[in-house]
Amino acid sequence: MKAVPTRVPAIIVHGGAGADPSEAPEFRQGVRAAALAGWRVLAAGGAALDAVEAAVRALEDDPRFNAGRGSVLTRDGTIETDASIMEGDRLQCGAVAALPGVVANPITVARKVLESRRHVLLVGDGALAFSRSVGVAECDPESLVTDRQRKRHAELARKQTPTGGGTVGAVALDRAGTIAAATSTGGTAGKLPGRVGDSALIGCGTYADSSLGGVSCTGDGEAIIRVVLGHRALRFLKDADPDYTAKVAVDLLVEEGGGQGGLILIDWRGRPGFATSTRLMPVAVMSPALDDPRVPF
Ligand code: GLY
Repeated sequence: MKAVPTRVPAIIVHGGAGADPSEAPEFRQGVRAAALAGWRVLAAGGAALDAVEAAVRALEDDPRFNAGRGSVLTRDGTIETDASIMEGDRLQCGAVAALPGVVANPITVARKVLESRRHVLLVGDGALAFSRSVGVAECDPESLVTDRQRKRHAELARKQTPTGGGTVGAVALDRAGTIAAATSTGGTAGKLPGRVGDSALIGCGTYADSSLGGVSCTGDGEAIIRVVLGHRALRFLKDADPDYTAKVAVDLLVEEGGGQGGLILIDWRGRPGFATSTRLMPVAVMSPALDDPRVPF
């Protein structure tokens, strides 16, 4: 058992890299509400894992973001979601990929995979069968499809540039010194059915190690996978402050991975950091030093 309390808790959340800056006001309320949902858990002495799940569920429920309700559509007009979650004490993790779009909160299925202790990643129909077996609620698939994403699907078919909120994620440190991270997404608009992005892959979109920190990534999933961005970012964190680390990691994504995106971090001391190569990445931070979430974008 870990001794408590030892740390000042903190949480940082993101709403995805790549939206148009004109859309910033639309995302502020969403990331703030998600940071508060996670913060309520931490402030009550709860676990970082519960905090990041609560924060990501809030973002999945918000139709402005590309996760849960509001997910982008595949080439075939369906929804398939990816999500992963990790706690950094024992490196326990769980993930789902290409989960059919009948589950509003894929992060909770990923959490159940973590708790099962049997597997790390379940995909497609197998992931859905597991979700059913552990009693995660399902919804009408149409309820996850927003007008924004229907329009985006049509625009993509006409080769117009889509905009809108992106992948979501959260990283938290709790009073016990445990760090957890979580990421959830609908993936990339117009993707082939069966495509899996970084958000489902531990070490790519999500990683947590309580002795170093935690990270959640957003952006071009294929590029993030190529450079194993999440894990490498935490290696940089060993020697640098979180904002600088995030900047170096994003440079790596651009220069080595050939993609665009961003990430959020918390180090083992509870210091948050973030960076993006895109014009907008909604972020909110909450800690005891703040009366209200800081929304630095
Ligand atoms: N970063 C989200 C994705 O590429 O699926």
